[in-house]
Amino acid sequence: MGKGKVIGISLSVLLMIALYFSFNRNEYEGIIGEDIYKDSVKIISFNLRYGRANDGPNSWEYRRKSVFEYFKAAQPCIMGTQEGQLFQLEDIKRNVPNLEYVGKPRSLNDENSEYSAIFYDKSVFRLYNSDTFWLSDTPEIPGTPSWDSYHPRICTFGVFEKLNNKELLNRYIIYNCHLEYRSRYSRKKSMEVINQHIDDNFPTYEIILLGDFNVEEENEDVMKYMNSTGWKDCYKTINPASNMGTFHNFTGDLDRFGNKTRLDYVLIKHERALIPSESYIDTTKYGDHLISDHYPLVCKFKLQLFEGDKDDKDDDDDNNDDL
Ligand SMILES: *[C@@H]1O[C@H](CO)[C@@H](O)[C@H](O)[C@H]1NC(C)=O
Ligand SMILES: *[C@@H]1O[C@H](CO)[C@@H](O)[C@H](O)[C@H]1NC(C)=O
Ligand SMILES: *[C@@H]1O[C@H](CO)[C@@H](O)[C@H](O)[C@H]1NC(C)=O
Repeated sequence: MGKGKVIGISLSVLLMIALYFSFNRNEYEGIIGEDIYKDSVKIISFNLRYGRANDGPNSWEYRRKSVFEYFKAAQPCIMGTQEGQLFQLEDIKRNVPNLEYVGKPRSLNDENSEYSAIFYDKSVFRLYNSDTFWLSDTPEIPGTPSWDSYHPRICTFGVFEKLNNKELLNRYIIYNCHLEYRSRYSRKKSMEVINQHIDDNFPTYEIILLGDFNVEEENEDVMKYMNSTGWKDCYKTINPASNMGTFHNFTGDLDRFGNKTRLDYVLIKHERALIPSESYIDTTKYGDHLISDHYPLVCKFKLQLFEGDKDDKDDDDDNNDDL
């Protein structure tokens, strides 16, 4: 290959890179929406209940419009969902403006497979990076079942930025999981895999982990383990005396379950710029149906500038290797 040709190829590669970046920049600038939570961020964990379930009058075809109402009311936020099947996730995306999601199904090549998807309002957040791994001895191999569990179990993570909030620390690393319901052992082992993934990829970063942990007692081993590895339960921090649940089995009535049913959690680790400021279980009625067999768990964080962020800023824009 002659020198001229090499230079020619290099120049066109450079041009393509330049075009790629200018295109992306314009695209982002063009879609910045109104961020009503300028100095805060709202994170939600919501078990959607899988759409192919035969739930009689609560089946997807009847409750879907209420779910759209809920998603519209909840924006802008980052929402980790559990159980959603592809047709259901797509149905929501089609019917709610500015919505996007990431995630992979827990079994590949199965159109009914469940996702631990992360939804976000793309007029307010930009997705940096995301992936799904399996809660098993071989997390990188798709479809591998976890210990004692019938189905494979997964965790999806996403790294997000807020588009119009450059002054404050502006990166949110969100992990979303759905743990096995039949086995305490599997739940604990699954959390070990998630902790390992974080240690390997984001050892010192501030992390939010949310999901349906399928934990019925707050003193269960897995919650003790989470506490001992530095995780803080945002709902408990804000509401220390509450024993309110999230799972109501399409009754809408938490009392019936004696409030022992908070299966859903939002945890934070390496807390730095995100300060839990409000947290509640959303029992509001949206539309004319119950939106799921769980109520969503909401946690709002106040964004706090801290020393060092400004200096980090310049590196961040070019050096994303660690993400
Ligand atoms: C772990 O639990 C103890 C005892 O309840 C509590 O004092 C401590 O703050 C918890 N740690 C975290 C990180 O939440
Ligand atoms: C939920 O409701 C269904 C249908 O009424 C019932 O078969 C099931 O046992 C209930 N599950 C729990 C955990 O209460
Ligand atoms: C469940 O929690 C709600 C809201 O905190 C409370 O009003 C109710 O009395 C609780 N029920 C039980 C059985 O503890």
